This record gives sequence, structure tokens and C-alpha cells, in this order.
Amino acid sequence: MREHPGRNVVVVGAGAVGATFAYALMLDGTAEEIVLVDRNQDLARGQAMDLSQGRQFAQPVNIRVGTAADYAGADVIVITAGSAQKPGESRLDLLQRNAQIIRSITHEIVGTGSQAVVIVVTNPVDLLTQIAVRTASDERQRIFGSGTVLDSARFRGLIAEHCQVDIHNVHAYIIGEHGDSEVPAWSMSHIAGVPVWDHCSGCHRCHDELSDADNRERLVQQVRDSAYHIIGYKGATNFAVGLALVRIVRSVLRNERSVMTVSTVLAGEYGMRDVCLSVPCVVGRNGIERVIEGKLSKEELAGLTQSAKVLHERLLELEG
Ligand code: NAI
Repeated sequence: MREHPGRNVVVVGAGAVGATFAYALMLDGTAEEIVLVDRNQDLARGQAMDLSQGRQFAQPVNIRVGTAADYAGADVIVITAGSAQKPGESRLDLLQRNAQIIRSITHEIVGTGSQAVVIVVTNPVDLLTQIAVRTASDERQRIFGSGTVLDSARFRGLIAEHCQVDIHNVHAYIIGEHGDSEVPAWSMSHIAGVPVWDHCSGCHRCHDELSDADNRERLVQQVRDSAYHIIGYKGATNFAVGLALVRIVRSVLRNERSVMTVSTVLAGEYGMRDVCLSVPCVVGRNGIERVIEGKLSKEELAGLTQSAKVLHERLLELEG
């Protein structure tokens, strides 16, 4: 455990995602100080001023613009710096453009001697998290990606709507790549301890039961297509991801040890190593405390292996 943990959060990248996250964090009240860093200094300054002027209506928090020197005193650093996904562009297409940005920010973080927990958000998040972990000498506990926390929330939301229950009573995970090869872990999904399929079969309220593979696939397709639809409509996604990031950061700052599908470099879990993807992890003050190895079906494990293969090939492409 780090000594004298505080509640200083540095947000690198003050664009749509970074600023929305900062706004949600200031309403949440978990952070003591929010520092915005962006290579576009005017943007960071403008966002910090705008947010600061709402402090009367939010929780007590200091908001200011910062520089790379602020990494040294940070408790959590959230990296959203990079380019946003363009309409029709796959997340993996963004890799080349964003890899260099992540390498240079990670070098700066390491150079300050920072002990912060670092959360990578920039897409393609799994590959960029792996690059950040490597750049920081394999620091896989303290550096992780936001992964499929948002996708799992979308999945839970759709199951909750389908089954007409509160989203908080649904436990369901999307694992693997934050992208097209992501995998719904139905065998780890339940409502009040009842597996989602069983719950659905016993309900008799509709005719599109989730025990039917086609109905399940339709629901999962909606999860996979969500980001594409939102980007098609408004050019970017920012609100739900901002809230998902607050949830992750809160778990770190308050040492909540919440289970979330963040993206981590596996070291033998699920029979894989040296690949960064999302699986349920316990997230606390020092980052990832442990990976939870749920019992997956044969198909789900095959899906996860395929996701790992896609990511591995992309990483080789980048390094080649
Ligand atoms: P944006 O373009 O609005 O903001 C990015 C900001 O990063 C810009 O202000 C830019 O000046 C800054 N920046 C670029 N290079 C920098 C550097 N070296 N140092 C400091 N700042 C730098 O983009 P937006 O919409 O905020 O998205 C940011 C990233 O988050 C994208 O890669 C996007 O794909 C990703 N994203 C990830 C999600 C996830 O679930 N992992 C969900 C939504 C977006």
C-alpha cells in the first residue's frame, strides 16, 4: 500500500472524454483535486475554468490546469489523450496514431517517479494499455485499461431492460477485447444468483427468451454496435464512458475492491499470458489486486482465445 494516499486525479487529454469524466468526477465528490493536462493548453485552461466555476453547485474539489510535472503527486492518472474514433473507423485503425502518444506520456509518468495508478482509456485501449505496461517495465498491477467496463454496463443495461429488473441486480460481464471480438460471458451472468438464461426461461413474460441462441446473439450485437451507432449520430461517445471512469477511479481512491472488467496484461490467468484484455478484476487502492478466474463455457473460452489472438496479431503488426 502506498504511503499517505490522497485523492489527486490527473486527467491527461481534456477533450470530450477527459472533460466529461472530470465533470462527472466533480459531481461524485471522490476527488480532492482534479488536474487537467492537454497538449492544447488553451483547451485545458478553458475546461478547468469552466468546471471550476460550477464548484458552488458540486462537491468540494479543486480543479486546475497542469503539466507533466503533476504526474509526480498524482494518486490516479487517467489517460484519454489521443484521437477519437472517426465514423466508420475501427478501434484498431487508431493504433498507430495513438501508440506514440501513450509511449511518450508513460515515459513522462515514469520519469517523474510517480506512484499513481494509471488508467488508460485511449483506443484501442487493450493494445495501448499493453504498450503502457511495457514502457513502464511491466508494471501490470498499477497500469490497466478501462477495458470493457462500459461494454459490460451496456450488456447489463440490455439484460435489465429485457428482464424488467433493476440494472443493479444484474451481474453480467463482457470480456476480451474492447472491440469487435469481445465476448459475452453468459455463464458468469446472473440475476439474484439465478443464471440469466434460467431466469429468462422461468419468467414467461415474452417470446424472445435468452435461452434461445439467436435472441442472445441479437442482444450481444446491440452491445457491440453501441459505440458505432453513437459515433454515427454525434461523432463521439463521452457520457457513459465518463461515468464508467468515475466508477473505476472511485474504487481505487476508496479502496473499494470492486469487481470490474478492466483490461489487464494476463500472466497465466485463463491459460493466457502477455496479452492485455478484459476479465473480471478486483480493483483497489494499488490498482488490480487480482484477476477473478470465472468458469467459462467451452465456447466462451474459445471466444476469449480468439480475442487474444486478434490482439496479439495487431501488436505484432504494430511492432513489425
Ligand atoms: P478528443 O479529440 O476530444 O480529445 C483528445 C484530447 O487529447 C485532445 O484535446 C488532444 O489535444 C489531447 N492530446 C492528444 N495528444 C496529447 C498528448 N500527447 N498529451 C496531452 N494531450 C494530448 O477525443 P475524445 O473523444 O475525448 O476521445 C479520447 C480517446 O478516448 C479516444 O482515443 C477515444 O477513442 C477513446 N475512448 C475510449 C473509450 C473506452 O471505453 N475505452 C470510450 C470513448 C472514447
